[in-house]
Amino acid sequence: MCGIVGYVGFRPAANVIVEGLQKLEYRGYDSFGVATNNPCLEVYKCEGKISEKGERALNLHGTIGIGHTRWATHGVPSDRNAHPHLDCTGRIAVVHNGIIENYAALTRELAARGHVFRSETDTEVVAHLIEEYYDGSDLRDAVEKAIARLDGSYALLVTVEGSDVVVAARDCSPLVLGIGDQEVFAASDVTPLLGYTERVVYLEDGDLAEIDRTGWRIYSRGTPVQRPIEHVDWDVETVKKGGFPHFMLKEIFEQPKVFYDTLHGITEASLPERYRRPSEITVVACGSSYHAGLVFKYLCESTCRIPVRAELGSEFKYFTPPLKGIVTVITQSGETADTLAALKKAKAYNCPTLAITNVLGSTVTRIADHTLYMRAGPEISVAATKSFIAQLAVLMGLVDLMKGGNPFGAALERANSVIEEVLLLDIDKAVEICRPAEHLFYVGRGLFYPIALEGALKMKEISYIHAEGYAAGELKHGPFALLSTETPVVALCPPGDTYSIMLSNIKEMKARNAPIIGIGARGDRELTDIVDVFLPIPESHELVQLVATSVVLQQLAYRTAVALGRDVDQPRNLAKSVTVE
Ligand code: G6P
Repeated sequence: MCGIVGYVGFRPAANVIVEGLQKLEYRGYDSFGVATNNPCLEVYKCEGKISEKGERALNLHGTIGIGHTRWATHGVPSDRNAHPHLDCTGRIAVVHNGIIENYAALTRELAARGHVFRSETDTEVVAHLIEEYYDGSDLRDAVEKAIARLDGSYALLVTVEGSDVVVAARDCSPLVLGIGDQEVFAASDVTPLLGYTERVVYLEDGDLAEIDRTGWRIYSRGTPVQRPIEHVDWDVETVKKGGFPHFMLKEIFEQPKVFYDTLHGITEASLPERYRRPSEITVVACGSSYHAGLVFKYLCESTCRIPVRAELGSEFKYFTPPLKGIVTVITQSGETADTLAALKKAKAYNCPTLAITNVLGSTVTRIADHTLYMRAGPEISVAATKSFIAQLAVLMGLVDLMKGGNPFGAALERANSVIEEVLLLDIDKAVEICRPAEHLFYVGRGLFYPIALEGALKMKEISYIHAEGYAAGELKHGPFALLSTETPVVALCPPGDTYSIMLSNIKEMKARNAPIIGIGARGDRELTDIVDVFLPIPESHELVQLVATSVVLQQLAYRTAVALGRDVDQPRNLAKSVTVE
């Protein structure tokens, strides 16, 4: 969701913050703002993208400051609702990621005491609460008292005019400190810190940190605590476009290496014995991660004969199924609020928990009993691509370990070269079919059903074309009524058990005049003859075909979105890291 950056040091704070917020823009991009302390408070905030208008904040002075890039929850995107929010005196500035659930009651209370509110946000109340408790000298104490009144989730940065500290606090929203020499940074995640420092301190829920040029002090509900300094090995180049027109395309092209690295990162030592033969597995995740969970369900049930239930994070908290065995959460960011809530619930039920994530030090790694890491590097584009492929690599590796004897190991070694091949596939004709469509169907069976869901998700989120993923056999139970010359179908038809029935399904769709884009094995004459456009996948193991098909569908969505002139990396209304429920 929202991204926040704070800085205390010797550099011009506005430069550090604007540059950092640009790297965090994938968290939210409807408005932004910066406040610096020089020692007078200087504030600039406006609706729009920091990548386009960020320069306007660069003439703020001072070497202490806080900034924010917003994904609106309370109040429309506007200059007024952009953070930082100020108290009545205009001396206290606050940026916030999360949701203050009791803001309405607090606002009423403070308004009755004479506070004047200027925005529609839940955040502004925090500035006024701090004003209530601030005695003119001890900002930490005032923030401590204010956060004790808050319900909900927050990562907060606060500064007050004339002071040389920034106070940071978190509960259920991510916040990390970057430790430099005579300078300290604070941010929603490590990407703004890359290039400045590799030393980071992850704050825990309930922590409050006071940072100044000399260092940082952390308190947990008033008591001083030590948190370890950890090292981040992400390269600053990974958060640049590196000559590609979009991060999404760059990330698509990183996939051969990402799949290889991630697969090789899962070894015998990765999985403790207690996770190897569970009676049952419940997988919980959101978005693309949920689709990876569905692939795991099909694969693990058929290979290991262990029952696997795949649940959406947003449902799990409110409709918890009976739980047996282990609970596995899959999350690229490690910060998705619904997934974290599910994980906490699983722990409350005493289930052993396993996390699969891309981000070292993320919240999920602090809560789960054990973590398996993807090796995708930072993913900046909102649409998940390389992280999805990395999740497949982890999950295939996991099934290998659970089954024992490495059933897929050798076959998967070829995956990176097959991905490289399909990256060069000519998909122009398929793009031509998708581009004018208002509705698309994606169909597959078995293992390829979740890939159809993921392909449709990619297409709708970045091209804004309505796309639905369906189990191919289900189309007859309703959606057939929608098929016409104007409703193209992307049909996944790999060789294997479902091949013949998929061919029959495709013929039925063709008989209803739907243009068909077929994806199948290279050299498949029968399929080529019945579809309008055939996209061939090099002959390879079923799991490699599955990975390669996912890559083709990413390219199809990407190319269609570019052809339609969409904002590929930052699609409207979306955020990469959904840190509120
Ligand atoms: C957001 C992103 C999706 C992602 C989902 C889950 O909606 O836009 O691409 O799949 O969150 O994120 P996670 O970090 O938990 O995998």
